[in-house]
Amino acid sequence: MFLNRRRVLTGLGAGLLFSYRLRQLSAAAPHNLDKKPAFDVSPFQLGVASGDPATDGFVIWTRLAPRPMEEAGGLEHLKPVLVDWDISEDPKFSTVLRTGQTIAHPELAHSVHVEVEGLQPDRPYWYRFRIAEYESPVGRGRTLPLPGASVQRIRFVAAGCQHYEFGYYSAWRAIANENVDFVFHYGDYIYEGADIGAGVHTVYGKPFTAVRRHFGPEIYSLDEYRRRYAQYKMDPDLQAAHAAAPWLVSFDDHEVDNNWAGDTDQDGTPPDLFRLRRAAAMQAYYENMPLRASSLPDGSHMQIYRSFRFGDLMNTFVLDTRQYRSDQAYGDKEAPQGPDVWSPERTMMGPQQEEWLFNGLSKSDTRWNLLAHQVMVMDLAHRKSAHSELLYSMDQWSGYMYSRNRLLQFIGDHCPGNVVNVTGDAHRHYAGNLVIDPDRQKPVSVEFLATSISSGGDGVGDNDPQSQSVRRENPHLKATTDRRGYVLCDVGRDVWRADLKTLDQVSSHDGQLSTYASFAVERGHPGLEKA
Ligand SMILES: [Fe+2]
Repeated sequence: MFLNRRRVLTGLGAGLLFSYRLRQLSAAAPHNLDKKPAFDVSPFQLGVASGDPATDGFVIWTRLAPRPMEEAGGLEHLKPVLVDWDISEDPKFSTVLRTGQTIAHPELAHSVHVEVEGLQPDRPYWYRFRIAEYESPVGRGRTLPLPGASVQRIRFVAAGCQHYEFGYYSAWRAIANENVDFVFHYGDYIYEGADIGAGVHTVYGKPFTAVRRHFGPEIYSLDEYRRRYAQYKMDPDLQAAHAAAPWLVSFDDHEVDNNWAGDTDQDGTPPDLFRLRRAAAMQAYYENMPLRASSLPDGSHMQIYRSFRFGDLMNTFVLDTRQYRSDQAYGDKEAPQGPDVWSPERTMMGPQQEEWLFNGLSKSDTRWNLLAHQVMVMDLAHRKSAHSELLYSMDQWSGYMYSRNRLLQFIGDHCPGNVVNVTGDAHRHYAGNLVIDPDRQKPVSVEFLATSISSGGDGVGDNDPQSQSVRRENPHLKATTDRRGYVLCDVGRDVWRADLKTLDQVSSHDGQLSTYASFAVERGHPGLEKA
C-alpha cells in the first residue's frame, strides 16, 4: 500500500511535523543536524538525476549548491541537513505515491542518493526534492521490467566525452527529447585539464577558440573536482538529459586523469601518490552521479561494474576498463602491435571482473546482451602516410589483444549473435564488426562506438586522412565520421537497430541534428547491415 505521508501529516503543526520526521530518522540523524537550513536562492542549481534502476525502484540524486562555483557550493553552514523527496505517477504530482527524507551530508558535498523501493515494475515515475521553501526541478525515473516479463522493445542512448570548452551540449538537449528508456554514459563526464585560455589555439592542427572555459588549473584536490562537476552540471542541456531518463554511468579516464591505468598515471607519478588523487576523483564522481551506496568509494577504489536486466529482452553489463587494467604498452603511444600487446600477463578487465562477466554471459537467457563500456573493441589499424607502418591505439582494446581475444572467443563460443558492444572515447563515430582473426572476416559480435557530445569541437566530417586510412585498412569497419552526437539504439526481439546521430556544429547553440548512418543487426547473425 502506498502511504502519502505528506498528506497524512498536513493536519499537524510544523513543529510537530519536524519532530516526527526527526524521530523517524533518530537512528541516523547526526547531532550536528542543521534544523533550520535557510537559502536566499534555490539550492537545486545542479539539477536532479536518476539511475541504476531495479524492478521496484531506482536511485534519485541531487546536490545542494545555491552558488555552485563558490566555496562549499555557496552553503553558509557546513552541517548535515534534511532533504524531502517525493515520487509520483505523473509529472504534475497530482498524486504523491511516496515521500521520504534523507540527509545531505557535508562529507559528500551535500549530495543525496536515495534508493527508492516499493514501486511497480516497468513504468515511469516522476521525482522531486524539497528543502526549506524550495522545490527541485522534476525528473523522470523508470523501473525495470520483471526478469521474466516479455519485453518487445528497449530504446537507449550511448553518449559521453563532454569537454566543456569544446562545444555546447546540444546533443544532450536532443537526447532529452528522444524519450529513451535509459542513457548509458560511457565516461569523460568531466575533463581534468586546465582552462585553455583566451584567444586562438591550435588543436588537432586546426585553429580553435574555446566556446567556454574551465575554471582554474588542472584539478587534483577534492574541492577542485567538486567545482569542475559543478561547472559542467550547471549546463541546462545536460540537466535536461539527466531529468528525462535514468542513466547508467561509468567513468573512463578524464574523470581522474588522461589515460590512467590502474595505479598508474601518464606522468610517472608514484602509485601511492596517484592513488590519493584517484581517491579525490572517485569521491567527487560518486557525489555527482545517481549511484547506489554499493558504489560508494573505499579509498581510491569504486565498484562500478554491474549489470541490469530488462525483462527477457536484454541483459546489460556495464564494464570498468580503467581500475583493473595493466599499464598501457609501448609508452601509450600509437604503435605497431608488438609482443607486449599479446602478453597473457596484461589485462584489460582484471581476472575478477572477467570471471563475473563470463559467468553472467554464460547464464544469460535474454534475447540480447549489451556490453556497455569505454574504449574501442575493434582492432583498428591506421597509417600516418601511404607507406608507413600500421599503427594501433595502446589505450584501447587493440593494446590488450590477449584480453580482447579472450573476450571475443568467449562470445563466439557461448553467445554468438546476441552480444552488442557500445563504447566511446574516440571522439568520432565508429560502427563495425568484431572479428577475432582479421584474415577470417566472420564476425562474432558488433560494436557501435558513440562519438563525443562536445570533445573535439565541430569536427571535420568523414573524408579526412584519418577516415580514409581507417576505411582502407579495416574492412570490418562499416562507418566513421568526425562529428559530435550520440548513438541511439532501438532493440527489438529479433533486430537491433542503431542510428549514428550527428550535429553539424557544436560551436553554436544552433547545431542541426541528423542521422549519419543506420545499421541493423539480426539476432543470431552477428554483423552490421545498412538499415
Ligand atoms: Fe573523451
